Amino acid sequence: MVWFFKKKRPGAALEQLAATGLWDFHNHVLHGVDDGARDLEQSVAMVERLGALGYRQLAVSPHFDAQRAQPSVETQRPIIEQIEAALGREFAGPRLRTGAEVIFDDTLVEGWEDGVFPCIGDARDTYLVEFAFGSGRVPRRFEDAAFRMRVKGATLVLAHPERVADFQSDPGLVRVARSAGMLFQLDVMALVGRYGGKARRLAYSLLEKGEYHFACSDIHRPHDLDTLEQALSALADWDMDVACRLVSHSPRDLIEGTFVSEE
Ligand SMILES: [Fe+2]
Repeated sequence: MVWFFKKKRPGAALEQLAATGLWDFHNHVLHGVDDGARDLEQSVAMVERLGALGYRQLAVSPHFDAQRAQPSVETQRPIIEQIEAALGREFAGPRLRTGAEVIFDDTLVEGWEDGVFPCIGDARDTYLVEFAFGSGRVPRRFEDAAFRMRVKGATLVLAHPERVADFQSDPGLVRVARSAGMLFQLDVMALVGRYGGKARRLAYSLLEKGEYHFACSDIHRPHDLDTLEQALSALADWDMDVACRLVSHSPRDLIEGTFVSEE
């Protein structure tokens, strides 16, 4: 008897992943609020393409910097309504919710105590935070601030640790951040080298160690979508169960306010 071993069809893993329904809480699809979508046309193009990829809901995450831009929930709502109106009633793709990507600097605790940061979707007291990327930019003793916020009931999700130079040069910071209760979000495009070799290597290393809780797109422009598709495919090929957890189930639970960390 002759056995034929068929190679898996390219894209089959991505189709399987998409069928589970993808959710995202780190993206810059709102136009005119940061370095993301420039105008309504770009916002619509990005949301339509995300829908075609299998995304069901998006909590948006415009950059929030206490020193500069502060896109409040009230600022975001009319922009979301404008995008949804342009997409039309028949649009079956993702719905949009509010959120923010907050810079983790020395003013973080102060701003949080003032209640100015938008939460991720419906996740009460849960915030997406990022460190500045450059070398030496992670605040000293950041874990003290993170721990204080945690004790007072805040959950911090750290955006793309793999892209932060200080984390690339000092892997010990991973333990420090995790010990302070921070959850980790992979920038999925790091897997295909979008942010260089160091970010790609650290991303796979953290994936291997099971350090990530979520994987999000962090898309800024329509042309990011081709890279995002390749990246989701790479993640699905790497491990389908992990991909489903990071891109589908866990971000869904987080956005809906029901996520419970298994740790
Ligand atoms: Fe971002």
